[in-house]
Formats: sequence, structure tokens, C-alpha cells
Amino acid sequence: MNVSDAERVSAVLESIKYQKTENINDADLIVVTMCSVRQSAVDRVHGLVEKFKTIRKTNPKLRTILTGCVLKRDKKIFAEGFDYVVDIKDIKELPKLIQLKEMAGSGNYLDITPKYSSKFSANVPIMTGCNNFCSYCVVPYTREREISRPAVEIISEIKNLAKKGYKEIWLLGQNVNSYKDGDINFPKLLKMINKTLGNFWVRFTSSHPKDFNKEVINAMAEGKKITPYLNLPIQSGDDKVLKAMNRHYTVKDYKNKIKELRKKIPDICLSTDIIVGFPGETEKQFENTAKLFRDIKYDMAYINKYSTRAGTSAAKLKDNVSITEKKRREKVLTEILKQTALEKNKKYIGKKTIVLIDNKKDNILFGKDKYYKTVQVTSNKNLLGKFMKVKITDALAWSLKGKINEK
Ligand code: 5AD
Ligand code: SF4
Repeated sequence: MNVSDAERVSAVLESIKYQKTENINDADLIVVTMCSVRQSAVDRVHGLVEKFKTIRKTNPKLRTILTGCVLKRDKKIFAEGFDYVVDIKDIKELPKLIQLKEMAGSGNYLDITPKYSSKFSANVPIMTGCNNFCSYCVVPYTREREISRPAVEIISEIKNLAKKGYKEIWLLGQNVNSYKDGDINFPKLLKMINKTLGNFWVRFTSSHPKDFNKEVINAMAEGKKITPYLNLPIQSGDDKVLKAMNRHYTVKDYKNKIKELRKKIPDICLSTDIIVGFPGETEKQFENTAKLFRDIKYDMAYINKYSTRAGTSAAKLKDNVSITEKKRREKVLTEILKQTALEKNKKYIGKKTIVLIDNKKDNILFGKDKYYKTVQVTSNKNLLGKFMKVKITDALAWSLKGKINEK
């Protein structure tokens, strides 16, 4: 979502003839698109404010704007360090703020056609905001309530991207599963996108387990363009902790959904998000998460150490798991993940797959296959943004190695 925010900011600035600069010291304007989910990201913004002070010594014209996910409390704190703090939903007002001509038309965040930062992979927000109020999370406070984007607009944007040759479309939203435009829900939207002409893959994030259901699974299974990859954040493997997190599902509910998913899409590649050290998480409760990791055998997981976010309901609880213990729990899960991921990756050896090449370092090319697995190949051709047939020759925990099939 942060990249998508930055793409929208770029589009607004380019529409008023601003150009990107490689050197931060030369900038007339710096717009920071902030993320508040973790305290470390907020700390980085404090660091930037200090940097601005140094830049201003040689470049007094510099103007600075803060946008993205900013908590109300932080807006006040950062008001001193930045010339302006702008709500991400109001970024169309940026030109007005910087006293330049107003952009044509009115509208909001989702109306802006972004300046895509890649020529082959595009982020398409389908909804923004969140109504869930998980007890640890700031998003409902920074992004406010859910708004879905009209399906016709989404389809029209995707049609344009497909015409331009885009190969990967990421559908974004805080909770894509609660997408709603009249009687068009998320599975219906997936079906409509799947019917759009073009040679592209569709991926989506984030999904909330409570809204992930059979209808979405069927749309994924039936849609050829919808890739067999799912990030389904469980956050904890303990029912009591899940309750305290206000997640509205149990471990059993989650496991049943995974069972159904694997029945319909046996080759599904599965990742999750976890928070270790939620206030009051006991050793036994953590062990339940470790057990869940061993049972589910994830391909990938994003493991976060709990950090208190002011204004959330969990902030009222005592952050009583020490940082050393949080780090230990993180390490335990990473070790289990390493084993399950390697075990799963080994199954790809000898198999052929299609890889969308997205990065290059000398003659080593990197890409992602339909399972969102990182695949590394060797070639001195510039194949960036191309779908390539690859035979997998080697498996590591976090990536695969392969040979391009030249035939
Ligand atoms: N502390 C740690 N991790 C958090 N996340 C969200 N809020 C917090 C927090 N306060 C994690 C969740 C979410 C991911 C985007 O960030 O795991 O799924
Ligand atoms: Fe945050 Fe929960 Fe909403 Fe995700 S679903 S954005 S974790 S409140």
C-alpha cells in the first residue's frame, strides 16, 4: 500500500511538472509517504526530519510534505518537522498546498491514476481503509473506514495496463475480501478481472481470514489468471491471543479454511503474518503458534515483534514480553519456517515453471513464478519484464535456482 501511495504522489507531482531527482540534496520538494504499522518506520521519519535540517543549510528553498499512514497524534508531532502534513486521501490537494495550479477535476485518492513505478508490474488499489480494529493495529485510525472503488474503474485500469503489456497486477486493499461495489463482491471482481483480455497474472493482498471463504477459493481455483499464492495472516496460533487481538476467528476456523483451499488448489503456495510477544502472550500460547507453524508448513511468513501503537486498544495493555524474548520467539518461528520452506521448495526441483523476470545483477536474473517464489537464473540477455520458461535445478529455503529453457 505504501508503494501504491508513493505512485499516486508521483503522479500528482508529475502532473504539475515536478521531476524526480537522484540526489536528495538537490530537491525542491520532498514528499515522505509514511507507514505507521511499526514504530521503527515512524523512527525513520524522525531521522529524516533531522536530515532536512542539514539539507536546508545549503538548500533553503526546500519544502517538505508528510503523507501516507500518519496517526492523528503523530500529525501533531510532525507538524513542526514538515511544512505540511497531508492526509493520503487528500493528496489531490497537494498542488494547491504548494501554491501551484490546481489539478483538473475533483476527487479522492482512488481517482488518481498513479505513475506506475514498474513497466510490467502494477499495483491497483481496489479498496482502502479498514473497519476491523484489530487491537494492535493503527490502520483503522490512519486510513479510516473502508471504501471500495467502483468495479468499472478497476476493470478499466486493468484493461489499460494489459494493453500496455503489464504482466503482473497486484490488487491492493487493507482487507480485499470485504470489497463491495453493489452486488459485486471480491470473488465476483476476481472473475471479472480474470475475463479481461491480456497475458497477465493477478495477485492480491491483504486478506482477513474471517472474510476468506469458499467463494473466493472457487474464484481463485477457476480463474486462470489468478495465481496460486495466498497470504493469509493468522497473527497468532492461540485462540485466547486471537480473541485479545480482536481477530474474530479461531485456529480451528483458520485451519478449516486452509484445508478447503488445499483441497481445491493442491499446489497453493501459502504465506502468513505473525505477531510474536503480543501483551500477555505466555510461553505456552507462543508454543501454540510454533505448533501451528509445524502443522500448516508455510512457504513464507512475515514475522513481526509486537510494538505498541499509541491510540490502539492494545496500547492499554502492558507490553510485558521482553524484547529478548520477542527476538527468541521470532527466531524459533524463523527456524521452523526455514525447514518447511526448504522442504516445499525441494519439490520444485526438476519441474518447469514460468518466471516473470523482475531484477538483474550482472548476468544473474531474478524473478517470481506464479507461486510468488523467487527464482534465480543466469543469462546475459536483458529479459526484465518478460515471462520465461525455467527448469528448476536447485532449492534453497527462500529461493529457487533454475535454467532458462531456450527452446
Ligand atoms: N506490532 C507488530 N506487528 C504489527 N503488525 C501490525 N501492527 C503491528 C504491531 N503493532 C503486523 C501484522 C500485520 C502486518 C502488516 O504488520 O502482522 O499483518
Ligand atoms: Fe489492521 Fe486488522 Fe485492518 Fe489488517 S484487518 S489493517 S491488521 S485492523
